Amino acid sequence: MKIITLTLLVAFAVVSCDQKKSRTVISPDAFNKKIDGKQVELFTLRNKNGMEMSVTNYGGRIVSLMVPDRSGKKEDIVLGYDSLTGYLNAKEQYFGAAIGRYGNRISKGTFKLDNLEYKLAINNIPNSLHGGIKGFSSKIWNGVQNRDNEVEMTLVSPDMDEGYPGELKVMMIYKLTDKNEVNIFYSAKTNKPTVINLTNHTYFNLHGAGHGDILDHKMYINADYFTPVDSTLIPTGNLEPVKGTPFDFTLPLVIGKRINDPIQQLVFGHGYDHNFVLNKTKNERVSFAASVYDPLSGRYMEVFTNEPGIQFYTGNFLKGKEIGKKGKPYNFRSAFCLETQHFPDSPNHSNFPTVVLRPGEIYSSACVYRFSIK
Ligand code: BGC
Repeated sequence: MKIITLTLLVAFAVVSCDQKKSRTVISPDAFNKKIDGKQVELFTLRNKNGMEMSVTNYGGRIVSLMVPDRSGKKEDIVLGYDSLTGYLNAKEQYFGAAIGRYGNRISKGTFKLDNLEYKLAINNIPNSLHGGIKGFSSKIWNGVQNRDNEVEMTLVSPDMDEGYPGELKVMMIYKLTDKNEVNIFYSAKTNKPTVINLTNHTYFNLHGAGHGDILDHKMYINADYFTPVDSTLIPTGNLEPVKGTPFDFTLPLVIGKRINDPIQQLVFGHGYDHNFVLNKTKNERVSFAASVYDPLSGRYMEVFTNEPGIQFYTGNFLKGKEIGKKGKPYNFRSAFCLETQHFPDSPNHSNFPTVVLRPGEIYSSACVYRFSIK
């Protein structure tokens, strides 16, 4: 009797400890630090199905996201670090980050607006990438967790921040819904004409972060056209049909199937690193953009947005030097990003949808990552 009771007690202790472990993967203490007098924090969001996501106000980053596989086992499927120090010391790969003021590149960091020329910080020679040297990904946002499953972040970007005109007031909401969706909503206002293109730079691996590459994932992108780039990854300005090319994901295609095809666009991108022009149905505010399926785990992810484009990036600049959560290295193509956005370098292409925001207007953008099992 005693032995049985003891065994049960031990078993219970192991299970509850395991449950604890699988619930909170990252310790909030590891993010509790002041930078320039501002408090950095880690917020943990939970939905009714036991899904869990942690987010820090350092760069408005998604740090972890626990998603079940077909047997119900939860795994952290986003790349990142266990502590704030990890983010501060690493080469910037924008893991999980909020990107602004401008997602992706602006050619030579220069653009004209209302006949005035602006010069931005160059941080990706010869271009400006993801908002410049100190973009939104390294700012300390003000974060407030109002509900178990929702955090609101705000930021004031001063006039001429990284060279961008106008004081920009930004609000971003992260919500983990009971439909197992990560909802990201952005809104912004300016006091001078400016350009804006906000996105999120989460790297996903549906096997689990640090569990091999993503070449076996099946990708579907709801786009008949993409925007080809030059050797510095700036769009040429053309919209090219995907039909008959390795960019045709209008039927699910295994990512690795054609990623090494010897064509110029894949050479320039070192793989996929391209903006797709999303097919839209009239009167749909947020429309279906893409889906990804991992046949091994059964995890299925769908992406919805009101944005006209999506950047599909296959982690071609990851080199295994980044040692991430649980000491796992992040190797070449060990994750993909699907960044909902306006097209890269839009301020220099009048044929692209406009990214200009003027005083009195409200910028608003939405991105939904929905998870299920197939
Ligand atoms: C870009 C890549 C860039 C990466 C940085 C992506 O959004 O498209 O070219 O290297 O961000 O992590």
